Amino acid sequence: MNIPKDVDPQVVLVDFSRPLFEPVGFEAERIAQAGGTWSQFECRSEDQVLQVARNATVVVVQSVRPLLTRRVIEQLPRARCLIRAGAGFDSIAVDAATERGMMVCNTPSYCVDEVADHAIALMLDCIRHVSRLDRAIHRGEQPVRGPGETLRLHGSTVGIIGLGAIGRRVAQRLSGWEPRILAFDPYCTPERAASVGAELVSLEQLLRLADVITIHCPLTPETEHLINDRTLAMVKPGCILVNDSRGAVIDEAALLRALGDGRLWAAGLDVFEREPLPLDSPLRAVENLVLTPHVAAYSPEARIDLYAEICEVAGDVVQGRVPRTVVNRQVLQHLRP
Ligand code: NAI
Repeated sequence: MNIPKDVDPQVVLVDFSRPLFEPVGFEAERIAQAGGTWSQFECRSEDQVLQVARNATVVVVQSVRPLLTRRVIEQLPRARCLIRAGAGFDSIAVDAATERGMMVCNTPSYCVDEVADHAIALMLDCIRHVSRLDRAIHRGEQPVRGPGETLRLHGSTVGIIGLGAIGRRVAQRLSGWEPRILAFDPYCTPERAASVGAELVSLEQLLRLADVITIHCPLTPETEHLINDRTLAMVKPGCILVNDSRGAVIDEAALLRALGDGRLWAAGLDVFEREPLPLDSPLRAVENLVLTPHVAAYSPEARIDLYAEICEVAGDVVQGRVPRTVVNRQVLQHLRP
């Protein structure tokens, strides 16, 4: 399917997170080869986005700050496509874009390995108390064992919430430890789960049976605060929880209660309800929490893959083709002229 082509197509990156995911340097040339122009800015507010993107055909946004809000989208008269430089697109007002005939695309493939590796790093850190023992040794203490119980991953039960690209990669990675792998994903078939060694179960079964739970679903109205007081009341006492998907999938206040009363033995988080994590966040004071600052996606290779994918998607739009990563596919019936 072809889409209308613009005379002077502009591709505008409105923000990027230094130094993790700065543009690589090949972007302008690749977009020029497709017939457009590339420019990049570091906007911090909606108004700054409007200043730089009003004439853009393609607007690219990287951070999870809500910069492409309904108000901004309503003032982008030429935009045909909004690209979230990342897998999650919860920070874009997709409904507003769809109403105006704009495609929303993501770049889902660039960091699947990294995010899966990071989830396993957080998991193993919690199980083996790596960060806590390390902190104690650096403080000059002589710990003789971990500050709590540990677990043999071999033969344990790991529950994966969201068995998409990253959840599946986690399952594949985990198979070397030979745990029982359960998965909850309302949009996955048992056969697809079985192909990575996972058994599809209900959320309640997963919560009740898993020794370790790792979250890999998108943030949607359905998954916001999926992990809350009610669901945490179902977990096995001493369960470990890992999240490197989106912070708001977990109700942080409920998480703190569960860590405090021993329902959870430890948790590992790369993502938070508010980012960057506020300096006065109570999460910072909790010993049995391993925290990283939304870096799961990063590696130098992922950075190159990310910008290659952005250029591919934007280049398609510039040349009048529908990119392969459109997430609001219903818009294809009424694209703006
Ligand atoms: P994906 O779209 O391939 O997989 C998501 C899976 O979640 C799908 O199988 C879907 O069916 C499932 N799902 C949807 N609603 C669900 C629900 N209510 N309950 C359980 N499962 C549900 O996405 P991918 O690439 O695996 O990424 C997952 C998430 O990871 C992204 O949405 C993003 O928010 C997050 N992410 C975080 C990064 C980081 O730096 N920490 C980097 C990249 C992604």
